[in-house]
Formats: sequence, structure tokens, C-alpha cells
Amino acid sequence: MTIWIPNLGKRGGPRYLAIAEALSDDIARGTLAAETRLPTHRDLAYRLGVTVGTVSRAYAEAERRGLVRGEVGRGTFVRVDPEPAAPIRFGAQAEESGATVDLSLNCPHEADDSAFRATLADLTAEPDIRALLAFRPGAGAPAHREAASRLVARLGWAPDPARMAVTNGAQHALSAVLAAICRPGDTVVCETLTYPGIRAAAELIGLRVKPIDMDEEGMIPSALEEALAAVPAKAICAQPTLHNPTTATMSPARRDGISEIVARHGGVTLIEDDVYGHHLDRPQLPIAARVPERTVFITSASKCLMPGLRTGYLAAPEALHGRIVDAIRTTSWMASPLEAEIAARWIDDGRLDQMVAARRRELARRAALLRNALAGASLRLPQGSFHAWVDLPEGWTVDSARGAARDINILLPPTEAFVIGRAVPPRSVRLSISHSDAAQFDEAVPRLAALFGRPRPASLAVI
Ligand SMILES: Cc1ncc(COP(=O)(O)O)c(C=O)c1O
Repeated sequence: MTIWIPNLGKRGGPRYLAIAEALSDDIARGTLAAETRLPTHRDLAYRLGVTVGTVSRAYAEAERRGLVRGEVGRGTFVRVDPEPAAPIRFGAQAEESGATVDLSLNCPHEADDSAFRATLADLTAEPDIRALLAFRPGAGAPAHREAASRLVARLGWAPDPARMAVTNGAQHALSAVLAAICRPGDTVVCETLTYPGIRAAAELIGLRVKPIDMDEEGMIPSALEEALAAVPAKAICAQPTLHNPTTATMSPARRDGISEIVARHGGVTLIEDDVYGHHLDRPQLPIAARVPERTVFITSASKCLMPGLRTGYLAAPEALHGRIVDAIRTTSWMASPLEAEIAARWIDDGRLDQMVAARRRELARRAALLRNALAGASLRLPQGSFHAWVDLPEGWTVDSARGAARDINILLPPTEAFVIGRAVPPRSVRLSISHSDAAQFDEAVPRLAALFGRPRPASLAVI
């Protein structure tokens, strides 16, 4: 029998859940192997200084989550093949939002479509636009890759255009990169909470996704180091800037820490997903600039221009570029040249900078409104963020909060969609401040504040 002692460290909440959580994390990290016999209820209770009942509840919770099985007279064992976590219907709720004020999507609201109309008019007036209507190289037209490099250069690092590729959005880039560097059954690691599209892309091609602990700066280097020692992962997916959903941004020192680990672990590639960084007043140098030969950097026009323009960009190490371009060709032949052309024009003619500046101002205005309305609430909403990460007041669960918000026609995303592994979703919600038109948003904020700005009413607490 293993002397497994969970590290309950900073875990808050009920003790039995903290033990179940620690068990889940240790199985996910590989610290607890399949078929390991866990300590008896009495033994673990003694070691942790809790009651036997608490350990029994913890093991029952772990069994409910499909992590362990109890055998009468023999003990509790880690299951060989934990049942897969429930699949997520990635993005589906966005299509069901109907007439509600949609605060569930990070999507820039663009009231002004004049730039788009003007550029389309310019394009139709041009004598020859055949190149935009034909097959192009899988990596995208050289001119589009050069514009992409100039976009990334705004973050302080100009990748070689020859190592870049144009994709149909960052989501397509993530899928293509994972498909290019991993095989079914491989493991990728990412922050415990992350953008659901990463998990969806990984699961689509049969990858295992393991969580890495995070703090207020995002992925913790020591946790990453520990995970890589336990499981040979093929890729690390990280969002160092304005993390979705927690808003965390890594400091330069944290970026150094992660890049040192990547440099030391030969078989692993860092996939740096940075679609929000263009909105920071003071941009952060990508980790890719520190370890370009081991990192695939991904960004997109979706947030700094508009999501309907399905244009994303990646910068890859020389050794991986060809394989990734093969994956782009396999999944889409190439990114839409017409849309990439519009994005390239806007990168170079100043329109992108104007749109980003206007959006920064509108995000700042909305952030101030929300902070003011939810004064006293615990919320993270740094400059440039498209969303707030709000801890729910006492008495609310994520489900009850989403239900109550829906009753007043406000759509919030399910927090569990951001969770990797079997961790219990935190009692926090991501509240997008970028979507819905300004008037709708402004009108929704006081209604939300009235709902969450006070303890949950007792009459609702029993529903
Ligand atoms: C962190 C992150 N990565 C990638 C994407 C996908 O971006 P795109 O719309 O370019 O596919 C999103 C979209 O919300 C995101 O939040």
C-alpha cells in the first residue's frame, strides 16, 4: 500500500473536497499510478488530522468522479482507466444565445463596419484580384506573412516571415499545430483553467490533457517542471498574456522561468497562445522571443480586428514549420486569401491600430463601469482584458448564478468548460465585457450588480 499523503497546502473549502481534489491532481500528474492502493480511511484521517468520515466522503467523491474504485475487504484503488471527463460542446452555447445579452463570449463588438465596406469597395475596384480567389501556398502568401510578422513585432519580437503561416483563426492554428506535433494518446499539458478550444482541439485528435497549477501570474514553473518529470508531454499550451479565463499575465521573470524549462526539456514544444496581448498598453515580450526554436507562437486577427475575419497567424521553429503547414493544407488547403488580404491591409494602413486603440478605450470604459457597480466584489479585470474573472459572493454556485442571470436575460459561460481534468470548477465566473453592444452592456451591468452585489437571498438558496 502506498503511503499517499495529499498536499492540501492552499486548498480552501470543505476538507473532503480538498482531499478529492488532491487525489485527482496526483492521478492527473502521474504521481499516483493506476492500481495504486490508497491508505485506509483511518490511516489517512490520522495522518491528515481529520475525521475518518471526512476521508470516507473524499474517497466517495473520488469514486463518483470515476477516479478510484472501492473493493470490499481490500481497500480503495486508483482506476486503471479513469472514465473520460464529460466532453465539452465547445462554443455551442454561443449559438444558442438568442435574444439575451451575451456576456459569455470574448468577441469584440464592432458597431462601425465602415472600414470593412471601404476595403471591400477598394478590392472590387482593383483590376486584378485573381490571386485572392485562387489556391495559394499552404503557409499563406508571402505578403500576408510579412504583414503578420509586422503585427507580432508590435509585441517586441519580429518573427522571420518564412517561419510564419496564416491560418483560419487561432483555433485553426491550435488544431493544426497539435495535429502536426502529437500522435493520438500523447499528452499535452496546460493551465488548470484554460480557453476551452485548447481542450476541444486536443481531444478531437485523441490527446490526453493534463493540468498544471497556476497562480496570479498563470502557469507555475515548478508545477510545470514536476509535471514534465512525471509524464513525457509533447506540448505545453500556455497563455502568458491576459489569460482566458483568469486574466493572469506573466511577468518577464515568470516568462524567463517557463522558457528555461522549455529549453531544458528536449521533446516538448511550447504552444504560446496570445490573442489578447495587442490590447495591453505596455505589450509583453512573447516567450517565443526567448526560445524561438522551441515555441510555436499563435495570434489572431479575431480580437484585434474582428472574429468574422477568420485570420490567424503562427510563427514556428524551422524544424516544425513544414509539418505544421502540411496540417494546415490537410485541414483547409490554406487560410482564406481574401480575408488574409483584408487583415494585411489593415495591419499596414493604420486601421488595425485605430481599431485596437478604440477597443482599448471602450474596454476601459466598460471595466470602470463594472468595477464601480460590483464594488466590494472580488474581481480580476486588468487593463486590456476582454473579460473579468469574478468570484461569486457567498451562497452562490456557478449554476445558480448562471440560472439567475439567464432569468434576467444575461448569458454567462459555464465555468466547468474552462477546467482541465477533474478539478471542481472554482466558484467564479468569466464575465465578458467585450461582447454585446455598448447600450446593452451598460444596461446589463446594474442588473448584474443587483443580483450578485449582495448575499444570495435565503429563499433562493434552497432551489
Ligand atoms: C485564448 C484564446 N485562444 C484562441 C482563441 C481563438 O481565436 P480565433 O477566433 O482566432 O480562432 C480564443 C478565442 O476566444 C482565445 O480566447
